[in-house]
Amino acid sequence: MTETAFVLWLTGLSGSGKTTVARLVAAQLERRGLRVERLDGDDIRKMFPGTGFSKADRDLHVRRVGHMASLLESKGICVVASLVSPYAESRRFVRGLCRRFFEVHVSTPLEVCEKRDVKGLYARARRGEVEDFTGVQAPYEPPRSPELTVDTSLLSPEQAAQLVLDGLKRRFPGAFA
Ligand SMILES: Nc1ncnc2c1ncn2[C@@H]1O[C@H](COP(=O)(O)OP(=O)(O)OP(=O)(O)O)[C@@H](O)[C@H]1O
Ligand SMILES: [Mg+2]
Repeated sequence: MTETAFVLWLTGLSGSGKTTVARLVAAQLERRGLRVERLDGDDIRKMFPGTGFSKADRDLHVRRVGHMASLLESKGICVVASLVSPYAESRRFVRGLCRRFFEVHVSTPLEVCEKRDVKGLYARARRGEVEDFTGVQAPYEPPRSPELTVDTSLLSPEQAAQLVLDGLKRRFPGAFA
């Protein structure tokens, strides 16, 4: 059987553009006839509302999504996962679970994410109303060797999505045959 599935994993700060780019990429993959499932951190947290933002809870969240991604991939479904996933070790764990893992660092600088402040959370974190917010009180460990890096402060959402698609095509040509 030709391997067609893969796990695309978008990691980056809140507001970096993960969900925006994930939606565009998933839509393009579907247009090409691939079976696709999106796993977005916010949606998964709604399914498991007890999950907080301590390091232990974040690790649990990331591992949970990694297990889901790996199961879907094993059934031939392409996964587009978008979650902050700030810790290198839990991303490494997920990489080990998946067969064909493509990590994209959405590297939009903190200043730009904070200026966008889509959810108003940076302002609340700066005021001390939100604890453990990544980039403010909690660390973000950038990937050392991601398959791709995109900085959405320099690109339109469509350009960023195209770069991701080009990277996937280069790495997994069989999926796009
Ligand atoms: N080139 C771009 N690519 C992606 N998003 C962009 C770009 N330029 C501006 N934006 C805007 O930046 C915001 C990114 O928000 P988005 O929800 O995608 O971030 P996120 O990384 O998913 O954050 P979170 O981790 O909080 O879910 C959106 O409002 C989007 O319209
Ligand atoms: Mg998001």
